[in-house]
Amino acid sequence: MRAWEIISDGGVDALALNERPDLEPGPGQVLMKIHASSINYRDLTTIEDPVSRKLPFPTVPNSDAAGEIVALGAGVEGMAVGDRVASCFFEDWPAGPISAAIMNTALGGARQGVLAEHVVLNAGGVIPIPPHLSWRQAATLPCAALTAWHALNQPHPVRPGETVLLLGTGGVSVFAQQFCNIMGARTIVTSSSDAKLARMRTLGAAETINYRNNPDWERDARQLTRGIGVDRVVEVGGPGTLQKSISATRVGGHVALIGILSGVAGTVSPTDIMRKSITVRGIYVGSRQMFSEMNAAIAHHRLDPVIDESFAFEDARTAYHRMREAAHFGKLVIDVS
Ligand SMILES: NC(=O)c1ccc[n+]([C@@H]2O[C@H](COP(=O)([O-])OP(=O)(O)OC[C@H]3O[C@@H](n4cnc5c(N)ncnc54)[C@H](OP(=O)(O)O)[C@@H]3O)[C@@H](O)[C@H]2O)c1
Repeated sequence: MRAWEIISDGGVDALALNERPDLEPGPGQVLMKIHASSINYRDLTTIEDPVSRKLPFPTVPNSDAAGEIVALGAGVEGMAVGDRVASCFFEDWPAGPISAAIMNTALGGARQGVLAEHVVLNAGGVIPIPPHLSWRQAATLPCAALTAWHALNQPHPVRPGETVLLLGTGGVSVFAQQFCNIMGARTIVTSSSDAKLARMRTLGAAETINYRNNPDWERDARQLTRGIGVDRVVEVGGPGTLQKSISATRVGGHVALIGILSGVAGTVSPTDIMRKSITVRGIYVGSRQMFSEMNAAIAHHRLDPVIDESFAFEDARTAYHRMREAAHFGKLVIDVS
């Protein structure tokens, strides 16, 4: 079978499409034939900088796959050949709080990834996909969708009528918009692009701000809540945006800290967090139980993930280059078979 491999620190252009031995599932495992794999910003940065992550060479990238079970290992119950499943970002996070041990089960990082024609995973590391979704759509769920779902549902769900601030229009933020729609929450969305903001309004955004034209977007966001501040922020910007997100948040509000799109260093005022009694909560994707609840909501509301563009398996490098250009809206997907 063929798999894309990170074989050096040479970045996207050094990715190699190589033959690997065919796989057999061991006890408690399933063999999955992969039909599609979506990419996340984290996959791009892993390929660009495998050394600081101490990745062994070769490593197969990507956490997100959708496909069908083609063989079951001994002792696997409740699953059958032909089942349509997605990979779980963490192969071994069934439920409950995260731990260091769980973090060591991330696909396309601590464990080999899924940009391959087949993969063997623990039975608890795959999950049935909502029936109405195509392979491409289902492949968008394991990381971006689940992260957005987690951010909006923990430590308690966003309530109808609450206001949520979303930064940018990448994979996580577009899913967050779609989930806010079904949860009855009002959104304020920022983007560098007016065209993308128009698309977000079509998708249901109540208010939009161009953060490139309005560097004081946090003040605008506050004004759009009559000076009170937003109830929750889905914070994908990180160091360059966090202080502004805190400023935009109401007393007692929540900041779900997810990403580092704006770099890895910045200044944050602990005083603002303390005086406003804001909860800043780190999010790391989510558990299989959260994934199951999210899939139930997606199936019930027949939610369709937003895919900007898809790429042939042999053209995977172009998908990562496209992500670095940041012109996409929603998700980028690679067709595998
Ligand atoms: N902690 C976790 O579990 C977890 C899970 C998933 C993702 N993440 C992280 O979350 C971030 C987003 O991931 P993704 O997959 O959604 O990425 P993505 O699809 O590549 O999103 C990129 C978009 O983010 C927006 N953006 C970039 N810089 C920004 C800034 N300074 N302020 C506001 N928006 C900005 C841009 O939107 P516009 O073009 O509209 O301006 C850009 O198109 C990444 O840092 C990723 O590593 C973390």
